Amino acid sequence: MLAMNFRGPKRVRASQMPMPEIKHPEDAIVRVTRSCICGSDLHLYNGNVPDTRVGTTFGHEFTGIVEEIGSEVTKLKVGDHVLVPFNIACGRCVFCKQGMFGNCHESNPQATAVGGIFGYSHTAGGYHGGQAEYARVPYANVGPTVIPPGMDPDDAVLLTDVVPTGYQAAEMAGIQPGDTVVVFGAGPVGIMAARCAWLFGAGRVIVIDHIEYRLEFVRNYAKCEAYNFRELEDPVLFIKKTTDWIGADVCIDAVGAEAAGNAMQTITGRKLLLQAGSATAVHWAINAVRKGGVVSIVGVYGPTDNLIPIGNVLNKGLTIRANQASVKRLLPRLIEHVQNGVIDPKALITHRFPLEEVADGYRIFSAKLDNCIKPVLIPPSAGM
Ligand SMILES: NC(=O)c1ccc[n+]([C@@H]2O[C@H](COP(=O)([O-])OP(=O)(O)OC[C@H]3O[C@@H](n4cnc5c(N)ncnc54)[C@H](O)[C@@H]3O)[C@@H](O)[C@H]2O)c1
Ligand SMILES: [Zn+2]
Ligand SMILES: [Zn+2]
Repeated sequence: MLAMNFRGPKRVRASQMPMPEIKHPEDAIVRVTRSCICGSDLHLYNGNVPDTRVGTTFGHEFTGIVEEIGSEVTKLKVGDHVLVPFNIACGRCVFCKQGMFGNCHESNPQATAVGGIFGYSHTAGGYHGGQAEYARVPYANVGPTVIPPGMDPDDAVLLTDVVPTGYQAAEMAGIQPGDTVVVFGAGPVGIMAARCAWLFGAGRVIVIDHIEYRLEFVRNYAKCEAYNFRELEDPVLFIKKTTDWIGADVCIDAVGAEAAGNAMQTITGRKLLLQAGSATAVHWAINAVRKGGVVSIVGVYGPTDNLIPIGNVLNKGLTIRANQASVKRLLPRLIEHVQNGVIDPKALITHRFPLEEVADGYRIFSAKLDNCIKPVLIPPSAGM
């Protein structure tokens, strides 16, 4: 089958790879119909995630038709069109039972922090992902969810990550009616977080990025204010000034470890690798939030040290909440929001690439070319 094949930092291609097989009675094999490229994939692509092995297929946001099921799969049948949450979750461990499907204790034997994630290196379990014609889906009774009749597959594929992640960013922020919410990052996740902040009763939503077409997009899509940090003398000062010198009630980090905007962080975190990526956005979030405020982090950071102003967290009495999104927990509510038109995920999809052109997809999304917000890959066997 054709699949995305990681050859080393900034080198990916589509090549012939072995067909996935059922390895466990709870596995399913799906024929992929849509598969997105995510900001999280860029951390792999840029070589910033440990133990990303050559020959791995990325892709944790996909939909597909069930082709084959193991003998213990009871919740799916061959022919079902499913959306597959990015978390691989067993459904029965102590964390899954609490709805923490992103922190499953069984699906990732390599770590005690994150659970398994499709196509996300051996630090997230070593599973091949869905940027391929076919994918093996473990614990198929738990994650994969039949796409409701009438739902556009483009909406469905964004329910595997972007919508739940943006929503959870707003949820973890504990937004109170009238709150001023600042979202760092106007990528798909930040855009969705800004949109969802209103659902929790925000009174003002401000997005910060430095890519003009994304700022323009989020202004229209999320009906919020949006500012270019390159045009602000200091984004923290700007946020304080615009909140009567109090600070935002809530700051959301939807950037993660590859943040721009601070030379020291960029050099130590992205060039010299003395810390696990640059912590610029989380730094700004901690400093721009008011005393007693909440910083909600969905931007991805590596497992080792970062230069984070923990003293300010203490002295300001902040609450920090962070996690991988728990997709399955949020799906029932978010499917309803999509069906009722409260959220329109497919509007984020700006690019479609045949899987054969996966290298172009990564290049354009990574370099933020051609007004790209969210690219989707279509395998030759998608049939739709
Ligand atoms: N927690 C989760 O479950 C989860 C799920 C999906 C994605 N993520 C993470 O969320 C982050 C965003 O994902 P995405 O797909 O939107 O990525 P993206 O790369 O498309 O967007 C990131 C945006 O941040 C902007 N940016 C860079 N430095 C900044 C700064 N200092 N301040 C403000 N903005 C800055 C970039 O210009 C870019 O527009 C990534 O770190 C990704 O790994 C987390
Ligand atoms: Zn993703
Ligand atoms: Zn589990």
